[in-house]
Amino acid sequence: MYSVGIITASDKGSRGEREDLSGKLIETIMKDRGYIIKRTVMLPDEQEVLSNEMIYMSDELNINLILTTGGTGFSHRDVTPEATLIAIQKQAPGISEAIRYNSLQITPKAMLSRGISGIRGNTLIINLPGSPKAVKESLSFILEPLFHGLEILAGDTSECGQPMENK
Ligand code: MTE
Repeated sequence: MYSVGIITASDKGSRGEREDLSGKLIETIMKDRGYIIKRTVMLPDEQEVLSNEMIYMSDELNINLILTTGGTGFSHRDVTPEATLIAIQKQAPGISEAIRYNSLQITPKAMLSRGISGIRGNTLIINLPGSPKAVKESLSFILEPLFHGLEILAGDTSECGQPMENK
């Protein structure tokens, strides 16, 4: 099964002033799906700190999937997409498009998330918004097809014609 790294971007959380509910929720959801949680961190909204962590998880830990939560909005401190742009080598815009498209059916405020997705080496990185509600909703839209993407990225399959029920 594929490994997951979770990064919560939160100034308050990194100072111990806020509990990491969204990171914990991602952990629960992904464990339920059979993924292995390899590393979970809570970091301040600092571009370099965030991109360095993504690069570490990818290059040193060979993590298959990095899920970030928080820092995708319009606050001046929100820099998770910019940090991700530094770390990735290829964009995978369809994943973030799917998150926003489906989320907009639930709340028009979904348009306020600037989250991006992309690939560094064998690692897929996806930005999720910050609230537990947004995390749960966003993951529900992408998890099924995502597995197939991870298989292709890891070189475990090149077949796209298999039914998704098994994924
Ligand atoms: N997406 C979903 N599915 N559900 C939500 O409740 N909240 C939005 C948006 N995306 C939301 C969502 C809101 S209110 C904001 S401000 C942005 O995500 C950015 O959130 P962030 O700054 O915590 O990353």
